[in-house]
Amino acid sequence: METNKTFTMIKPDAVGNGHIGAILDQIIKGGFKIVAMKYTKLSPEKAGEFYAVHKARPFYGDLVAFMSSGPIVAAILEKDNAVEDFRKLIGATDPAKAEPGTIRNLFAKSIDANAIHGSDSNENAKIEGDFFFSAFEKH
Ligand code: CMP
Repeated sequence: METNKTFTMIKPDAVGNGHIGAILDQIIKGGFKIVAMKYTKLSPEKAGEFYAVHKARPFYGDLVAFMSSGPIVAAILEKDNAVEDFRKLIGATDPAKAEPGTIRNLFAKSIDANAIHGSDSNENAKIEGDFFFSAFEKH
């Protein structure tokens, strides 16, 4: 059933701007079931580990600093075709290119502060969900 799950984080910009409720509303209305969820804050070490795949990219340092700058909401979501459907719901990484009505179009300001993360594959959805949640926390 792992193919029907994806992982998301509401990022520090969206949490700080008071958009947790509105974003969760869009996620639920989009047909996703919340399987696990936590409000937490990443240390720079943990943010660096989570985004280790981007270590060689020029934006890695800024990304780690931003993702550890304030609280986030991490969640595992379930729906048929979850990974692809969730990426459609959140829109393009760069909010300037995100379709109208998508979460990033509505709530994101820049490619760095882009409101929300969504896993890009089933494999990464499992890795990212396991990064935040123990088996006991996934219902
Ligand atoms: P996210 O989906 O969380 O995955 C990596 C993040 O790096 C991405 O969202 C962006 O917020 C951030 N980022 C900053 N610059 C870039 C870039 N040029 N290309 C892709 N991601 C970027």
